[in-house]
Amino acid sequence: MDTKIIKINPKNPEISKIEIASKILKKGGLVAFPTETVYGLGANGLNKIAVKKSFVAKGRPQDNPLILHVSDINQVNSLVKDIPDKAKTLMDKFWPGPLTIIFKKSKLVPDIVTCGLDSVAIRMPKNKIALELINSSGCPISAPSANLSGKPSPTNAAHVIDDLKNKIDVIIDGGQVEIGIESTVLDLTQKIPSISRPGKITKENLEKVIGDIKENVKSKKPRSPGMKYKHYSPNAEVIIINEEEDLKKILDDHLGKKIKILDYSNEIDMASRLFKDFRDCDNKKYDVILVRSVKEKNFGCAIMNRLRKASCIKNKESI
Ligand code: TXA
Ligand code: MG
Repeated sequence: MDTKIIKINPKNPEISKIEIASKILKKGGLVAFPTETVYGLGANGLNKIAVKKSFVAKGRPQDNPLILHVSDINQVNSLVKDIPDKAKTLMDKFWPGPLTIIFKKSKLVPDIVTCGLDSVAIRMPKNKIALELINSSGCPISAPSANLSGKPSPTNAAHVIDDLKNKIDVIIDGGQVEIGIESTVLDLTQKIPSISRPGKITKENLEKVIGDIKENVKSKKPRSPGMKYKHYSPNAEVIIINEEEDLKKILDDHLGKKIKILDYSNEIDMASRLFKDFRDCDNKKYDVILVRSVKEKNFGCAIMNRLRKASCIKNKESI
């Protein structure tokens, strides 16, 4: 398949170009597009055959459900059984934005999207290209991150091209994403809401608005099916430096190895560059990647979650 690459202005998306992509979505094709978190691999979320194609293109396990992306809060009504009050409050406050909410699903949502679960994940991305694309296609868009399964989520179009060129119909190049790690996933189907994937919208942010939240990121039985899969771990060994004094010993222990120390000025900078840096280190065949840990509070929780996953194979940690 010849993949069409369409460059679109992220600040002021050209409608004629958006329409080329939305026509392809309507016909059951696959379109990768930018969101504020990472690039997504879009399909018409109500078309089983189209959704199935996105699993195949990514090589994604069949039991890892997808997020439906909407451009208007009213679109949620037909996709869910009911909208809890807490969800209404959260949608008003955080949408469009990097918050995915899990609802009880309606019959309209095909089983392939939710992998047979009775719940569905929905979010409204804060990116003009994404919103125009969803709006113009007239349907909810299912979109996993637009990487091959087992690779880091893509934060620019070149990453999507590396992973999915000639496997999908269109790649929209809308430049570098803003945040760089995936959305917060919040499960509202239980009595007490729980975070199954931490992200830019933090537990503290959410609790201010809806009260107590459980964080089940570390629990043994994953509620978010994707949590049980090994996530991307670079070919290089990723070592998290907790104390500056450890650095010299780690360097001594790895004498003769090709070592990269990743440096960041703050958490925002770190999130936006981490996945790109992992890809670059793999391309340059580093043996070891050293990254300084950040404080595990607020946005730091999401960053440490991704860092641990990247270092987990070598640490034999299971996720
Ligand atoms: O920022 C993001 O969320 C990006 C952009 C493209 O929107 N998307 C993304 O999708 O990261 P994906 O498929 O890579 O991750 C979706 C996560 C997975 O961990 C999956 O298991 C979880 O959401 N999920 C989806 N539906 C669910 C459901 N019904 N119940 C529990 N977890 C669900
Ligand atoms: Mg993903």
